Amino acid sequence: MEMVKVALAKGRLGKQVVKLMENTPYGDVVDLDSRKLIFNDNFKNIQYILMKPMDVPTYVNSGIVDIGVVGKDVIMESEADIYEIKDLGIGKCKFSIAALKGSDRYKQSSTLRIATKYPNVAREYYKDEKRPIKIFKLNGSVELAPLIGMSDVILDIVETGNTLRANGLEVIADVCDISGKIIANKGSYRFKYKEITDFVNQF
Ligand code: PRP
Repeated sequence: MEMVKVALAKGRLGKQVVKLMENTPYGDVVDLDSRKLIFNDNFKNIQYILMKPMDVPTYVNSGIVDIGVVGKDVIMESEADIYEIKDLGIGKCKFSIAALKGSDRYKQSSTLRIATKYPNVAREYYKDEKRPIKIFKLNGSVELAPLIGMSDVILDIVETGNTLRANGLEVIADVCDISGKIIANKGSYRFKYKEITDFVNQF
């Protein structure tokens, strides 16, 4: 049996995936509380590799790992040429556009300024915007940008809406639904089809 290498996104989604696996024959090989990054299941011949979510599509695209578990948000932002082979139905949230509550400043500015961790998604979403757009790529706490006058809107993930509410922002448009997905390298999916399918079917 060929070894399958699985990239797992660290963070909220990774925790949910490891929890899901605990009740399957794939068991509890991965210990998220340790600082270790690589875990081997010698019995099933699977190697799990923990990494930052944004790096999962890069590793899968390169073929260094065969499959990855990551959010649709990260897949949309990446330019990786991979297969999406399963929706896990976990980590559900939305990509939304938000602005200062009760303000229509975003409608009036001559250039629409957008702050986001996802510049490619923003560029695609606003491709038909009549005004010029300016995208600020941030690495987190994106809600800050409209509060201190750097952007008119943000494009970000909204789950409970608590972060928006706590900062006096509101959703002005939904972009799309997000959830956790399994992605596969195109070559691996062909040559390790049986091993990958066995792994994916546990979910
Ligand atoms: C994400 C996202 C929002 C928040 C949304 O941030 O960027 O800020 O969660 O969740 P909510 O609707 O349930 O409040 P994350 O916690 O990943 O941290 P970050 O801002 O540092 O990226």
